[in-house]
Amino acid sequence: MALETKPEPAAYIEFAHVSKSFDDQTVLDDVSFDVRRGEMVVVLGRSGVGKSVTLKHILGFLRPDEGEVRVDGRAVSRMPEEELIEVRRRVTMVFQSGALFDSLTVGENVAYPLRERALRDLAPHDEDRIQQRVDQLLELVELENVKDLMPSDLSTGMKRAVAIARALAAEPEAILFDEPTTMVDPIMAITIADLILKLKRRQGITSVVVTHDMKLARKLADRVVFLVDGRVAFFGPVNDLDAAPEPVIHDFIQLDEVSFLK
Ligand SMILES: Nc1ncnc2c1ncn2[C@@H]1O[C@H](COP(=O)(O)OP(=O)(O)O)[C@@H](O)[C@H]1O
Ligand SMILES: [Mg+2]
Repeated sequence: MALETKPEPAAYIEFAHVSKSFDDQTVLDDVSFDVRRGEMVVVLGRSGVGKSVTLKHILGFLRPDEGEVRVDGRAVSRMPEEELIEVRRRVTMVFQSGALFDSLTVGENVAYPLRERALRDLAPHDEDRIQQRVDQLLELVELENVKDLMPSDLSTGMKRAVAIARALAAEPEAILFDEPTTMVDPIMAITIADLILKLKRRQGITSVVVTHDMKLARKLADRVVFLVDGRVAFFGPVNDLDAAPEPVIHDFIQLDEVSFLK
């Protein structure tokens, strides 16, 4: 019997030798990794190491000094602004702040990307479809009873769940999460982690999660990119992280375990 080799799913997001400096400060130094379709990659590292900068390169908000960033095989790092609009429709970001529209209800926040898309040919029955979809999305994030509330009525964690529902409304191929569990209480952090996991399992969505939370990484990641001083100190399956030779990675893991005991 011939040996069957299972083909690896194609990379959806790719960083190839990306370097980026601001003035004299090198933030990313020859960074390479990829995210396959349907995969969840967690970018780990201390605060200020360049995690958010990495995410901004995927959407073309920042451009590398050297190297290339590709989304679905196309170089976003060299794309004109008009074409980036399309990329930002296919890949959405859940910002750390949540970034909801304060003057709109929760329901209208989630409906926003749906209305934007329907704008050109909004038919009378579309309003029903929009409301149905909003209800579905709020149910998915287990917030169906806050539809008519304002963002200011919600806790930080609930706001973040609404931001995730809004990001999903655009029906993206990939979602980028910037520190999804930072600054929320521990119970809500677990709820959000479970929600992100549910999206991956149910919708097969490709995702990149940026965090400094080791527990979250272990829970979510297929593979991990570990950034130290702007370089990739480790890139591989999350289960191999403990066997990585770099002392700095062990320190990070141990520190996290200590804070866990507290
Ligand atoms: N637009 C910018 N201009 C200048 N410096 C920046 C800019 N964006 C980020 N930086 C710097 O790059 C470094 C990494 O930032 P960031 O990616 O936000 O870190 P984190 O890993 O905490 O998300 C920081 O020192 C930050 O001050
Ligand atoms: Mg950040």
